[in-house]
Amino acid sequence: MDLPLIKKIPELKIGNIEIYPPLLLAPLAEITDVYLRPILKKMGGVGLAVTEMVSSEGLTRGNKQTIEMLDFKDEERPISVQIYGANPVRMADAAAMAEEAGADIIDINFGCPAKKIIRGKSGVALMKDTNLAENIIKDVVKAVKVPVTVKTRLGWNSTDLNYIEFGKMAENAGAAMITLHARTGKQHYSFEPKREAWDELAKAVKIPVIANGDIKIPEDVQWVFENTECRGAMIGRAALKNPFIFRIIYAKIIGEIYRPTKKDIGKYFLEYYESIKANPDQKFVIHKLRIMGGWLSHGFKNGNQFRRRISSLTEDASFIDAILEFFELEELDVAE
Ligand SMILES: Cc1cc2nc3c(=O)[nH]c(=O)nc-3n(C[C@H](O)[C@H](O)[C@H](O)COP(=O)(O)O)c2cc1C
Repeated sequence: MDLPLIKKIPELKIGNIEIYPPLLLAPLAEITDVYLRPILKKMGGVGLAVTEMVSSEGLTRGNKQTIEMLDFKDEERPISVQIYGANPVRMADAAAMAEEAGADIIDINFGCPAKKIIRGKSGVALMKDTNLAENIIKDVVKAVKVPVTVKTRLGWNSTDLNYIEFGKMAENAGAAMITLHARTGKQHYSFEPKREAWDELAKAVKIPVIANGDIKIPEDVQWVFENTECRGAMIGRAALKNPFIFRIIYAKIIGEIYRPTKKDIGKYFLEYYESIKANPDQKFVIHKLRIMGGWLSHGFKNGNQFRRRISSLTEDASFIDAILEFFELEELDVAE
């Protein structure tokens, strides 16, 4: 039988932490939380998970909800906590809080283009202010013992593609790894990523560079590993539509084939439900289930009907019925 293998596997070390396989779960706000990450990690294939971005202002001002975002489970390790903000002192204090909470790695967000974030001069807005970005990296590095990594884009917009200078600056300031989402801030999440930028940056710095942006199938990972000097690939949205993507890619690394079914996705959704229902806030649970249901039903026949149905549900019990029906699960499957 023809086993399409991914043969070239780069070595990824962040500081002294070895990451294997070199496949990273992207930070996704409201999604890669303490309920979801352990489930994805358990499936296999996720070498490193990054938390959703955590506000340094929220952390250092004692916001309860923000502090709860530092919650993680031991089985998730190694875990990277991503922080954002524009004040070097607060960023350093926030990093120390994350380290104290047990983070193995601190990641700094220099890529978020959301209005709320760039209005506060954080996220990708910092790619326009490299002096401030440099101070933030230096202060965060000084404040913690764990490795500090950064996540960037190509630049603020297409006339200001400063990813190479920014990457070199980050390396000199003490960053231990750079993830490059190969789009500009202005491009948000559409437009073709500039794939050649991954290799350009990987060749320009000594620290590991991770490729990110529209990596959706095993062949995309294979392309990165064979055609660039990147040490890893980070996947975001593809893992939301197909949570088995890491497992599928990992199977290709170890010479197996893994083919999940629609039922498997339904079971995964139920497992997520079981995990998130531990949160006492029913509104929060329903909100999260709607987000997850939206992603997981993409690409399936009648997915839009399912999304409409769950958008009007207000009780989690009725969610279970909707999930069982849409993913064609028997009650028995759930107990298996
Ligand atoms: C819903 C959503 C939330 C995101 N939240 C974050 C975040 O908190 N921090 C961050 O650095 N990037 C965030 N991103 C960007 C992703 O980490 C990733 O860089 C981007 O989606 C491109 O990768 P992909 O094509 O594999 O999704 C987010 C993206 C989406 C779609």
